[in-house]
Amino acid sequence: MTPPPHASDDFPTYPSGLRLAGRKVLVVGGGNVAQRRVPTFIAAGADILLVSPEVTPAIEGLVGSGEVTWSQRGFEDADLDGAWYVMAATDDVEVNERVSLLAEQQRIFCVRADDAYAATAFTPAVGTHDGVTVAVMGSAAADRNPRRSASIRDDIVAGLREGTIGGRQRADRPAGVVLVGGGPGDPELISVAGRAALMQADLVVADRLAPRELLAELPSDTEIVDVAKLPRGRSATQDQINRIIVDAALAGRRVARFKGGDNFVFGRGFEEVLACREAGVPVTVIPGISSPLAVPAIAGIPVTHRGVTHDLTIVSGHLPPGHPESLVQWGALASLRGTIVLMMAVDNAPMIAEVLLRGGRAAGTPVAIVCDGTMPTERTVLTTLGELPLTITGEGVKPPAIIVVGDVVGVAFPERFAGHPSGHSSGHSDRP
Ligand SMILES: C[S@@+](CC[C@H](N)C(=O)[O-])C[C@H]1O[C@@H](n2cnc3c(N)ncnc32)[C@H](O)[C@@H]1O
Repeated sequence: MTPPPHASDDFPTYPSGLRLAGRKVLVVGGGNVAQRRVPTFIAAGADILLVSPEVTPAIEGLVGSGEVTWSQRGFEDADLDGAWYVMAATDDVEVNERVSLLAEQQRIFCVRADDAYAATAFTPAVGTHDGVTVAVMGSAAADRNPRRSASIRDDIVAGLREGTIGGRQRADRPAGVVLVGGGPGDPELISVAGRAALMQADLVVADRLAPRELLAELPSDTEIVDVAKLPRGRSATQDQINRIIVDAALAGRRVARFKGGDNFVFGRGFEEVLACREAGVPVTVIPGISSPLAVPAIAGIPVTHRGVTHDLTIVSGHLPPGHPESLVQWGALASLRGTIVLMMAVDNAPMIAEVLLRGGRAAGTPVAIVCDGTMPTERTVLTTLGELPLTITGEGVKPPAIIVVGDVVGVAFPERFAGHPSGHSSGHSDRP
């Protein structure tokens, strides 16, 4: 069969959105190309007939779940009957060519996997985000470079995800407050949703530990309130913050309350939720990567390890043991054998070490102090529970720091702790 002359490539293609729901789409071929494309036809609600002697296991799964009808044989002309759209995706050029020609004779648009520009249609580089589909293609033949299209598509979708494209224009974003967890410090460690919420905000109320580099990326008309610069003490400041976010939301603004780590982990986030609820302000939460897990991980310390620890306790050390307002049962904590992650504990570390030793933790228990985790100034100081007080002063440890106490530190740094048995059996006999 001789291919008919296709419309001249001098003309650009005509973009159109096909509504395939309930309409027959014929896919000829069952290999990797079909595997990549079939889910997009499924997502469009198409009625898919796939013709191929063999299919990949992934396609077989789609057949099994009833999303695709599979005819296990080679292509037959009648397969085109009733089709609205065709994809020729076999590894046999002649078959693809035949499918394409027959489709054209019947005025059914067809894409060809082996030669994107030899058929009546071709698939653009496609991406979706939050109800928007982006399709990128070069206009004329000379511009049709699939890698370039894919790379432009990736940039656009990333921009949509991060809110650098189109975020401010979303009229359907109602006024209200969103608590955004910024992660432990490295701006790369905020979530995609968190970043987008910042970009869409009219007002960002930022904390001292929130990743500040992200503020520089905000649109120029975003108002930023730096909470670290608010006057007066801590509790007065919390009241001020509550008032700022509530008043702004009541005035019709979109407010992002931006904190380090996760807003609910020693972040007073729920106080802000309650203040919003009390004022009738809609409030949502975007969780952040919290420092007690992320900072040890970045420093190469697993907070749990099979056969070493079956418990992990995250504790605030902002009040010393014995303080009348302390809610921590330090004695009970000392009797546990697993990992303790101490936050806000630099000042009280000597007293905490003392109470843990008194309660039964061995002086040789490995300890890691990770300061400025995930930031360019990050440093890890290794010591033992017995030596912790001296190390804090000797090394000039300053907040923010995460102090990890337990055998997992020895697992992470075996060369350092070879001569420091913690006194606990590491339980290798009963590994889960
Ligand atoms: C008020 S708490 C806030 C915790 C935060 N909401 C979170 O989920 O990570 C502050 C404490 O978190 C810890 N912290 C937060 N970011 C840290 C970082 N990048 N490196 C070390 N410690 C950090 C320190 O113990 C610090 O004193």
